[in-house]
Amino acid sequence: MIHCEGLVKIYKSSEVEVVALQGLNLTVEDGEMMAIIGNSGSGKSTLLNILGGLDRPSAGTAVVGDWDLLKMTEPQLVEYKRHTVGFIWQNNGRNLLPYMTALENVETPMMLGGKYDRAYAKQLLEWVGLKDRMHSRLYQLSGGEQQRVAIAISLSNKPKLLLADEPTGSVDSETSDRIMDIFRKMNRELGISIVIVTHDLELANKVDRIVAIRDGLTSTEFVKRNASLDTERVPGSKEVHEAFVIIDRAGRLQVPREYLEALSIDERATLEFDGERIVITQPK
Ligand SMILES: Nc1ncnc2c1ncn2[C@@H]1O[C@H](COP(=O)(O)OP(=O)(O)OP(=O)(O)O)[C@@H](O)[C@H]1O
Ligand SMILES: [Mg+2]
Repeated sequence: MIHCEGLVKIYKSSEVEVVALQGLNLTVEDGEMMAIIGNSGSGKSTLLNILGGLDRPSAGTAVVGDWDLLKMTEPQLVEYKRHTVGFIWQNNGRNLLPYMTALENVETPMMLGGKYDRAYAKQLLEWVGLKDRMHSRLYQLSGGEQQRVAIAISLSNKPKLLLADEPTGSVDSETSDRIMDIFRKMNRELGISIVIVTHDLELANKVDRIVAIRDGLTSTEFVKRNASLDTERVPGSKEVHEAFVIIDRAGRLQVPREYLEALSIDERATLEFDGERIVITQPK
């Protein structure tokens, strides 16, 4: 579904240049539901905006389905946004039209995409548990209800890929569980691939794979596995995920800063290979 390699995004303004993505690699399989975690400013929204066709990458490879995001023309980008991806923004306000009803909010993007289907709009609202509130105007709904309208909207064009940036950022844990259940259902029943950006480790644990981003690069990957096995955990989590460091095609890997600091490794290290293990040590 998604293939990014050496993805670079540089934001330029008159004074500063910010390298938000520094050659990021990421692959997401068709039908996968996965999460991306990382500190504030690590490049999560930047990545999602690029995948959603809302922002252009500066260099590298970014392919979603049959679309090459670096080579797309503007009309192709519009087409892509209308039919391939669904997007839930970090800031809820961007998803919604406050003076329209929930139903009208879901119908509007359908009209833009040329596939108006009231029955499907109603079904989506029912799926997210808003059957009784579909004729309420958005400002009359609670934050969690609005967020569920945003989910219904993101699915209105029947996307193959759903991108959700902090979809549970401003709701309580019960609503957050409910939202995750909706995602799981969409993933299983409609086969939609889903990428969720989150700070919430509890939530990240509800997916099978978590990729951590650090300084604009994918650094570590956590894959859920049998809970009876003794493996490394995502900090603060209850579930067991096995941690892997990501190695790119050129053989580069990112060593966590804490490890380097603990060994006072600065610019150089020695690498030893004993036939079974590769050991990184401080140069003598
Ligand atoms: N439009 C922009 N112009 C300049 N710099 C930007 C722009 N958008 C993001 N950045 C910078 O790029 C970096 C990555 O930002 P991004 O929004 O992707 O972070 P994030 O991981 O989503 O953080 P958060 O968890 O706080 O949402 C940050 O240093 C940010 O300041
Ligand atoms: Mg963000």
